Amino acid sequence: MLVEHSERGEAMGKTTGRWTLALAAGLLLGGTAAAQGASDEAYEYFARNCVSCHTIGGGPLAGPDLAGLLDRRDRDWLSAFLLDPAGVIDSGDVYAQALLRDARGVYMPTPPGITADLADKLLTVIAVEDGLDKSRFAGLQLSDRPLTPVDIALGRQLFNGTTAFASGSPACFACHTVEGAAGFGGGRLGLDLTTVYARMEGRKALGAWLGAPPSPVMAPLFQDAPLDADEILALTAYLKHTSESGVEQASSGVLAFLLTGLGLAAVLLVLFDVAWKDRYRSTRRTLVEGRRSPRLASRAVEGMEGTP
Ligand code: HEC
Ligand code: HEC
Repeated sequence: MLVEHSERGEAMGKTTGRWTLALAAGLLLGGTAAAQGASDEAYEYFARNCVSCHTIGGGPLAGPDLAGLLDRRDRDWLSAFLLDPAGVIDSGDVYAQALLRDARGVYMPTPPGITADLADKLLTVIAVEDGLDKSRFAGLQLSDRPLTPVDIALGRQLFNGTTAFASGSPACFACHTVEGAAGFGGGRLGLDLTTVYARMEGRKALGAWLGAPPSPVMAPLFQDAPLDADEILALTAYLKHTSESGVEQASSGVLAFLLTGLGLAAVLLVLFDVAWKDRYRSTRRTLVEGRRSPRLASRAVEGMEGTP
């Protein structure tokens, strides 16, 4: 662009003054765009990776409220912390150890793909947002009114998809299960949400999580079509309910899943064995031994080797 401009400028015999002006304008525009892009990227990164545990001015979640952060620590310390939270805590740093105690021993995970440059930009985002009357990261202000059976019922309908989300987001049941409704359609390990309310320690943290899910699978679905505060409150009510009443059923669901999984693994091993017979026996043995259920695996192998 710039080169084209200058060449055309010279070819057309424009004055050097004009040419310089064009160049300066080009640089200025380019520069602004670059700075804009960089901070947009840091904002987006913060929204994606930090708001599930931190607000700026909305009170603590799993991690401390970041309001007033740069009055508490200097940038160098904070940069080092963002690059390696556990490292700083374990170095014996007194301030970091106090943070860990306040967080009841929960370590902040190392932010994914963090670099010194990104850490610096994140601190700028935090400083700028902290200076505003109300940061966009003040967090979802969920009502703390008592939750009612009506909330629970609405939450269940939203979860199951019998009531649609205003934004048109997919029902949670497409990927999750609760209350031991396990089966091949739903309760895959890690996706059973029966006790997630207890695990996330309550309404505020779960609400914040659902307001901007940091999950790589959920984020793309819910970022542009976020749940509204009423929907989140209802889902939270439902998951509080399941957390307080459904634990036993759910764990038997998980157990059933595990057993089915092991059974399937055994069947697969046998099928593989038949298909591969004696070929690549040593390769297969290594594969088999690398599996998670060594006992079952070796039993399956023994069984096959016993047959003529
Ligand atoms: C899973 C929850 C979690 C996530 C996600 C998380 N943090 Fe933290 N953060 C914590 C906890 C907990 C602490 C307190 C120290 C500790 O226990 O590790 C903390 C502490 C901090 C501190 C020091 C706070 C103070 O008061 O001095 C900063 C700064 C910080 N986090 C920034 C971030 C940024 C920026 C991100 C996103 C890249 C982020 N955190 C993501 C949980 C989290
Ligand atoms: C397209 C599939 C999909 C949909 C739809 C979906 N989730 Fe998820 N969700 C996931 C996956 C996968 C995870 C596991 C975390 C990850 O992405 O690695 C997860 C994790 C979670 C977690 C954290 C669980 C934990 O133990 O940390 C919560 C809470 C959650 N989802 C709630 C919901 C709710 C409520 C809905 C409905 C509004 C929903 N999800 C809709 C796929 C989905």
